Amino acid sequence: MVMSSFFGFRPSWVVVICIVSLSVLRCASAQQCDPGDSRALLDFKAAFTDPGGLFNSWQPGTNCCTWRGVNCTSSGRVQALQPLAPFPGRGPSPERNPTYGGVVGASLANLTELLVLNLDYVQFNGPIPDSLGQLKKLEDLSLFLNNFTGPLPPSLGGATSLKNLLIDIYGPNFIAPVTPAPIPSSYCALVNLRTLTLRFKTTGTIPACFCKLTQLTILNLNSNNLVGAIPNCIGTSLTQLEQLDLGFNSFTGSIPLTLTSLTKLQFLNLEHNKFSGSIPSQIGNNLVNLVRLNLGSNSLTGPIPSSFGRLTKLEVLVLSFNFLTRIAPELGNLVNLQNLFLDSNRLQGNLPPELGKAGSAAQFGFTFNVSNNGLRGPIPDVCSTGASRSFYAANNFFTGGFPLSLALCSIVDVSNNRLSDPSQIGTVPSNPPVQELRLGNNRFPSGPIPAWLTSLISAGSQTLQVIDISSNSFTGPVPDVIFNLPSVSRLNISRNAFNSVLPTAVTFAPGVRLTGPLPPNSGDFQELFYLDLKNNALTGTVPASVAAIPTLLYLDLSNNQFTGDVPSKRPPPGQEFPP
Ligand SMILES: *[C@@H]1O[C@H](CO)[C@@H](O)[C@H](O)[C@H]1NC(C)=O
Ligand SMILES: *[C@@H]1O[C@H](CO)[C@@H](O)[C@H](O)[C@H]1NC(C)=O
Ligand SMILES: *[C@@H]1O[C@H](CO)[C@@H](O)[C@H](O)[C@H]1NC(C)=O
Ligand SMILES: *[C@@H]1O[C@H](CO)[C@@H](O)[C@H](O)[C@H]1NC(C)=O
Ligand SMILES: *[C@@H]1O[C@H](CO)[C@@H](O)[C@H](O)[C@H]1NC(C)=O
Repeated sequence: MVMSSFFGFRPSWVVVICIVSLSVLRCASAQQCDPGDSRALLDFKAAFTDPGGLFNSWQPGTNCCTWRGVNCTSSGRVQALQPLAPFPGRGPSPERNPTYGGVVGASLANLTELLVLNLDYVQFNGPIPDSLGQLKKLEDLSLFLNNFTGPLPPSLGGATSLKNLLIDIYGPNFIAPVTPAPIPSSYCALVNLRTLTLRFKTTGTIPACFCKLTQLTILNLNSNNLVGAIPNCIGTSLTQLEQLDLGFNSFTGSIPLTLTSLTKLQFLNLEHNKFSGSIPSQIGNNLVNLVRLNLGSNSLTGPIPSSFGRLTKLEVLVLSFNFLTRIAPELGNLVNLQNLFLDSNRLQGNLPPELGKAGSAAQFGFTFNVSNNGLRGPIPDVCSTGASRSFYAANNFFTGGFPLSLALCSIVDVSNNRLSDPSQIGTVPSNPPVQELRLGNNRFPSGPIPAWLTSLISAGSQTLQVIDISSNSFTGPVPDVIFNLPSVSRLNISRNAFNSVLPTAVTFAPGVRLTGPLPPNSGDFQELFYLDLKNNALTGTVPASVAAIPTLLYLDLSNNQFTGDVPSKRPPPGQEFPP
């Protein structure tokens, strides 16, 4: 009896085994695709030229739940469609195969159970279809790097379940042929949005009703053509914001004070706009979670607020290319900074010594740029703390001498200043990490290269790659050590008054890229590309071996007192100088 009923129910037995056994996966993929969804997908496919064969598995009469990029619910409805995601790593790349593409079909509207639609990298032509707005359950829509013509369809505001929306036309070597148009205000109905990225050449202002999108944690409108002021309510309503990126637009007005109350903000980018007025002095009072802040390339005026000193989580602070007038010593509190860019402003006064502490806890180094300002007075010790540091301070009015502690930076650029004190300041560090030493165009008095500079170059001879002491008034012989630097690639001693007899017999190791006239017992330049000796009073003949260097890029011997012919040398193709 038991046996007969057992065998009598054999078909169910097979089904039961299938469900409870290890073949769960096979059973799941064997769900029969809903015929309506199958038709809609085939209709979608039909618009493609598809030479890359992306849709080869999409064949009529087969189960659509097994097709590439299709994922079904247990009842066979399509719930996710992501033909090229995740990318890269597999599948044909539309960038490699640009004829790949089609028009997004209206039939997508029939996939009414869709939760996830990721059409990244699929080179659709034509507009974003209105049908997407009918996908009432859709939570994730990603349209990255397509060939859409625009505009943004207002109908998309109907997809009110959307949590994550990304429409981004900027890829490497690719921008879609979008016609600029405003952001539809209907998108203000997408109140479930957590993340919103729109980079679609949108014009006009941010719709004030965006302030209804109160769940947003990420708002990225970078690289559009947006104008006008940032609505004040962004700062008061979008209280969940962690990332706000409005860079590369044409926003005007001042930075709204309300933005400074977004306590969850970690990333704020307003670079390359037309913001004016001063930075709100309260900026550091509440934005305590800020890690990256970029206000560069605007028209901001006034001092750098001292409240920045409270933003101790900051790793990147960019205020470059504005009209800011004063540095706050409190910036020295920002020990986690990796980048502090204050260059190309109108900064006056001294560089506060406190700045020497900035970035001192940054694990992978710290770059500090105050170039192109009006800073005066002595250069403080800004290179002594923390891991690998770089200090760019060219084009200011710094006076005094060169503190030898600066050689503790791997890059130090103090060119185009008014340094005039030739005396030794501090001691030459042993094995200094300095790779680039730029002291060009200062006001050191006429006389030989100071002993401390020669010692410094000797001490750094294993690491130095760039030396620029051009446009000073150095006289006398060029110290031998300058010609004994195995890693130097750029050597500029032009526009001084060196006079020394250059040797006639010089040997070069195989593979030497370029060299110039060398003293008899010189070392080999292994990496030298640029050698600029012009405007000195150097004498003797130019060694013929200079011309034997296979990859000479730049050699300027002009305006000296060399005798004999200059050996001729043609740069290798494609490497004509200057590069
Ligand atoms: C989409 O659904 C509508 C209404 O059910 C139907 O008329 C239409 O043929 C479907 N389109 C496709 C491509 O399946
Ligand atoms: C299909 O969707 C489910 C639910 O979102 C997910 O867990 C699963 O990983 C998806 N499978 C594939 C192959 O994408
Ligand atoms: C992208 O669209 C433009 C204009 O519609 C068209 O000329 C171009 O061929 C398209 N590119 C691809 C890869 O389909
Ligand atoms: C430093 O600032 C100058 C002037 O704005 C700029 O030209 C240079 O590229 C900057 N360098 C770095 C490394 O930031
Ligand atoms: C050397 O420095 C001078 C100015 O100090 C500059 O004009 C010249 O271009 C520099 N040479 C090279 C090769 O960089």
